[in-house]
Amino acid sequence: MCDRVGMLYAGKLVEEGTTADVFAKPRHPYTVGLLRCLPREGRSKETSRLDTIPGSLPLPGSVTQGCIFASRCKLADERCLKNAPPPYRIAAAHGDQMSRCHYHKRAESLPRATDEAPVPVAALDAPALALWARNLSKTFRVGDEDVRAVHDVSLDLVQGETLGLVGESGSGKTTLAKLLLGLVAPDKGAMLELDGKSLPGRVTHRSEEQVKSLQIVFQNPDSALNRAHSVRQLIARSLTKLAALHGKAKEKRLQTLTEAVRLPERYLGQRMRQLSGGLKQRVAIARAIRAWWCATSRPRRSMCRCRRRFSICWRTCSASGA
Ligand SMILES: Nc1ncnc2c1ncn2[C@@H]1O[C@H](COP(=O)(O)OP(=O)(O)O)[C@@H](O)[C@H]1O
Ligand code: SF4
Ligand SMILES: [Mg+2]
Repeated sequence: MCDRVGMLYAGKLVEEGTTADVFAKPRHPYTVGLLRCLPREGRSKETSRLDTIPGSLPLPGSVTQGCIFASRCKLADERCLKNAPPPYRIAAAHGDQMSRCHYHKRAESLPRATDEAPVPVAALDAPALALWARNLSKTFRVGDEDVRAVHDVSLDLVQGETLGLVGESGSGKTTLAKLLLGLVAPDKGAMLELDGKSLPGRVTHRSEEQVKSLQIVFQNPDSALNRAHSVRQLIARSLTKLAALHGKAKEKRLQTLTEAVRLPERYLGQRMRQLSGGLKQRVAIARAIRAWWCATSRPRRSMCRCRRRFSICWRTCSASGA
């Protein structure tokens, strides 16, 4: 899609080069870390885990000496802390490459931040079926015409499973998600079950527990979350409303949640409009997964309390919004 790529970290271009060179041989530990976070075809958490980049972005203007990435870099030494690296120019296979790293030649030797050991697979004979849907269809009436947005979809989701839904814009992904959430009523003939119990088509007919168990992370947190509220208010409100938590228990859960989505504590007092896009999305995820927390609090052999039950990710394959 592009000929050259640049890596921006804390407002500084730390690496730049042809797309082929940067992806094949990254020369900055930040790029190396980002590429190690990428899920790729054939990779599975059961064979090896993705890596993460430890810590979080420094506050703007807070690093006045040395390399801006040093606090998160496992290759950092005295030299990195004292002297900011200049833009080193390297002749790469497809053109010039630039890296602001003293040790760009060995950037790829960056030690992993997390354990590579595969995630232990639970010794379950047959994971429990969480969501069961049969013959889901939705027809909208637009003027004199019927628009069939979803046609006869059936799916099974077991505990811990993630289903990826891919389709061109307008192919029905959002409508299917809304059907599962009960936000739009299905056409006649649809059947839904959650945890083996019948799940009514409309959210207003569902039990409180069923409403809590199915949550959505909207793609655009700007329109889904109140921009005037602080991060703390947004997460705390959902903990009270949907998990019935108060006082110390609520505070403790709030802390666990923000740690789980790696949202540094210093952002809790900030308003949504002050956060970057990625941080906003973390707040949206924290609000949604608190429901899974509740739902998984029953003893289960395979799941710890902080693991999701199942998830459905939907994404458009065209450039326009999903
Ligand atoms: N409330 C609605 N009223 C009428 N048509 C709708 C409504 N919601 C979605 N549609 C139509 O249903 C089809 C599927 O839409 P959608 O589920 O949003 O697709 P996707 O999420 O895959 O882009 C589109 O043709 C869209 O115009
Ligand atoms: S200069 Fe040092 S701290 Fe900065 S990225 Fe390179 S190795 Fe890491
Ligand atoms: Mg959509």
